[in-house]
Amino acid sequence: MLLTFYLLFIGLHVSEGCTLENRGEVLNIAAHAGGSVLLPCYCTDQHTTPERFSWKKDNKDTWEEISIESGQYRDRVQLFNGHSPGNVSLLISHLTEEDGGDYQCSVEGAHLIIRLTVKGCPLENRGEVLNITAHTGGSVLLPCYCTDLHTKVKTFRWKKQNRSTHKQEEISSESGQYRDRVQMFNGHSPGNLSLLISHLTEEDGGDYICAVKGSRLTIKLTVKGCPLENRGEVLNITAHAGGSALLPCYCPDLHTKVKTFRWKKQNRSTHKQEEISSESGQYRDRVQVFNGHSPGNLSLLISHLTEEDGGDYICAVKGSRLTIILTVKGCPLENRGEVLNITAHAGQSVLLPCYCTDQHITPETFSWKKDNKDTWEVISSGSVSTETEFSWLMVTLQETSLYSYHTWLKRMEEIISALLKVLI
Ligand SMILES: *[C@@H]1O[C@H](CO)[C@@H](O)[C@H](O)[C@H]1NC(C)=O
Ligand SMILES: *[C@@H]1O[C@H](CO)[C@@H](O)[C@H](O)[C@H]1NC(C)=O
Ligand SMILES: *[C@@H]1O[C@H](CO)[C@@H](O)[C@H](O)[C@H]1NC(C)=O
Ligand SMILES: *[C@@H]1O[C@H](CO)[C@@H](O)[C@H](O)[C@H]1NC(C)=O
Ligand SMILES: *[C@@H]1O[C@H](CO)[C@@H](O)[C@H](O)[C@H]1NC(C)=O
Ligand SMILES: *[C@@H]1O[C@H](CO)[C@@H](O)[C@H](O)[C@H]1NC(C)=O
Ligand SMILES: *[C@@H]1O[C@H](CO)[C@@H](O)[C@H](O)[C@H]1NC(C)=O
Ligand SMILES: *[C@@H]1O[C@H](CO)[C@@H](O)[C@H](O)[C@H]1NC(C)=O
Repeated sequence: MLLTFYLLFIGLHVSEGCTLENRGEVLNIAAHAGGSVLLPCYCTDQHTTPERFSWKKDNKDTWEEISIESGQYRDRVQLFNGHSPGNVSLLISHLTEEDGGDYQCSVEGAHLIIRLTVKGCPLENRGEVLNITAHTGGSVLLPCYCTDLHTKVKTFRWKKQNRSTHKQEEISSESGQYRDRVQMFNGHSPGNLSLLISHLTEEDGGDYICAVKGSRLTIKLTVKGCPLENRGEVLNITAHAGGSALLPCYCPDLHTKVKTFRWKKQNRSTHKQEEISSESGQYRDRVQVFNGHSPGNLSLLISHLTEEDGGDYICAVKGSRLTIILTVKGCPLENRGEVLNITAHAGQSVLLPCYCTDQHITPETFSWKKDNKDTWEVISSGSVSTETEFSWLMVTLQETSLYSYHTWLKRMEEIISALLKVLI
């Protein structure tokens, strides 16, 4: 017991002073900009108290002492030898890329070198070209971030390359094309430099560059306008006079916001295109579009069709157009223009035939007239607003006679009113 104590005492005596761990060596340490790093330097026996120690940094081939009170490291370095005297490790906080370099820890004549590498922000996908597609009116996130999202990036830039001049123009939310339309998120997540562009226009398409010190990334943004569905084609649509017709015209993505589009009708004789307006002209109060609900749906609804509405319609957006041939079927009468000779006997009934060649057509208006001393006197007229399965003009005029004009007229009115009841 005594012997053991004696040996221990001798041991302590011999190891008096600090033997520097890793002395004479070069340690490589890497850290991230914005973070902190502990540069290790301690005595093999941490209970020893070194009489002298110093921390120096290599500055262009001269070793400069690190000062806690002034210069580059002011308020950013910390020692722990108060608690553990043999541990003179140095903690450097709020690292910047300039902190990288060789550090020398000297303790009683022995020293060790620490080679510190401060990593900036090596961008994810750096050096690559990313292709991103978005739609006009929408928004797009151009991704750009450090491989480590905690990295604090002091300076970075978003630029757009002008394809004709090849000059790079800085993107600013304060002025120019992107005013109030761009947003960044590096406040929350310092290494996330992604750019959000809102209210996209086709002019926003192009090459964007995200650049940090030593690393850059190119993003090719394509802003799709509205390439119309069935563009360049000719659609044939048939509708009936008095009815309505939906002329289809829409973007493949119904969410696409289309800034300007036009509906025009082509005059077949002059080949001039005339704009269709619900405010004036032939289509006044008869046309309707639905792009309020579904911005990419530019379809045109024409109501109360007349035969004159037939023709070539053009739906045009920037860079794309579509032609629709509308045929409005009216009621071309069977035997029209002819004179039919019908003979009947007094007291009997007679059918005066008059019907559309296509019996599914409902004429908007009709009238029956009788020749009365060389003037055509209207004896009956009406209008029909709903379609009907049967050809309502083929009505047997029973118990009427061409010779008892008043009876005939009365009967005709009854038939018409009965017919209208059926139709409604
Ligand atoms: C020296 O002190 C620092 C800070 O307290 C600590 O993180 C480190 O582990 C210590 N080194 C040793 C070898 O104990
Ligand atoms: C991006 O688009 C360019 C040009 O359109 C093309 O050369 C490149 O291969 C595309 N890259 C990817 C990853 O799709
Ligand atoms: C590219 O530069 C030319 C000349 O300065 C300019 O007229 C044009 O508007 C620029 N294009 C874009 C997309 O900024
Ligand atoms: C960057 O921030 C944006 C917006 O908050 C987010 O959508 C995106 O996922 C973030 N990127 C990464 C890599 O975290
Ligand atoms: C549409 O009608 C035009 C002319 O009547 C014709 O040339 C064309 O082939 C038709 N198209 C279709 C898809 O039916
Ligand atoms: C076509 O143009 C001619 C000459 O301007 C005009 O008389 C005619 O009414 C037009 N046709 C249609 C269907 O608008
Ligand atoms: C466009 O809107 C009309 C009217 O609401 C609708 O009938 C039509 O189906 C829509 N077109 C598309 C492609 O959604
Ligand atoms: C109908 O009668 C008129 C006059 O009587 C006559 O001129 C005409 O040819 C007749 N039409 C037919 C189709 O029989």
